[in-house]
Amino acid sequence: MEIFNNKKDLKSCLLEHKTNKKTIGFVPTMGALHQGHLSLIEKAKKKNDIVVVSIFVNPTQFDNVEDLKKYPKTLESDIKLLESISCDILFSPSVEEIYSENIASEKFNFDGLEHQMEGKFRDGHFDGVGTIVKTLFEIVTPNTAYFGQKDFQQLQIIKKMVKKNHLDVKIKGCPIFREEDGLAMSSRNTRLTKEHREIAPFIYKTLKKVKKKFGTKSVVEINKWLEKKFKKQGLLELEYFTIADEKTLETAEKKEANKQYRAFIAVFAGEVRLIDNIQLKN
Ligand code: PAF
Repeated sequence: MEIFNNKKDLKSCLLEHKTNKKTIGFVPTMGALHQGHLSLIEKAKKKNDIVVVSIFVNPTQFDNVEDLKKYPKTLESDIKLLESISCDILFSPSVEEIYSENIASEKFNFDGLEHQMEGKFRDGHFDGVGTIVKTLFEIVTPNTAYFGQKDFQQLQIIKKMVKKNHLDVKIKGCPIFREEDGLAMSSRNTRLTKEHREIAPFIYKTLKKVKKKFGTKSVVEINKWLEKKFKKQGLLELEYFTIADEKTLETAEKKEANKQYRAFIAVFAGEVRLIDNIQLKN
């Protein structure tokens, strides 16, 4: 695996591949790699000649300094993992290499997608994500980029950014990868205490029940039921739960025919914020 910290060297290496008509698959990450990331990389490998993974903990997408400080950084073991699955190229730049002196986000308009859910609770988060993903796309110029559906809102926002900016890259959303007990894989899971790790599968168990109820109960009934469940359980603190239209991400008050819905949840397990979602059938 070739490792680049410098965008100029990476660009000239990729230019050579492009000149040789090689397709480039790209998996942007913030490191602390897990099976979920590896599944994205495997998908990219199947469909492309060259796979580039980036590891960059992007400061502008954190609204909370403590969260940024505590974000797990495991570069050495990440490199070993990437080598074990024969990843072609790792791009692991410094903050200065990406932002120079000005660590700030570009301001985006994602047609309202950015004001829902995560956008309500993480100020400026999607401007930060848009900024780094656009920058990385400019450097890597991939044919296809791969993102997990755990961050479903992020995925929709990136698709919107690509469309609005006429970027020449295909965006592929990939299914959520879960631990055996159902907890959605996340780099943040390593920060859970033993007690919170044990209770965390409650999130997906509850989402699966929501999916069942969605066939017969109203949105209002489900919302009330879920809030009660979380209050009773006590260890996990519910930040938001919403059933939303998959396209607009707007909260649904009631079900409408011909719309596709998804349930979204954010929960604090102690200090660690976990998100998850599930597709619903009308
Ligand atoms: O999902 C992530 O890990 C990050 O938000 C991303 C897309 C790598 C941008 O920093």
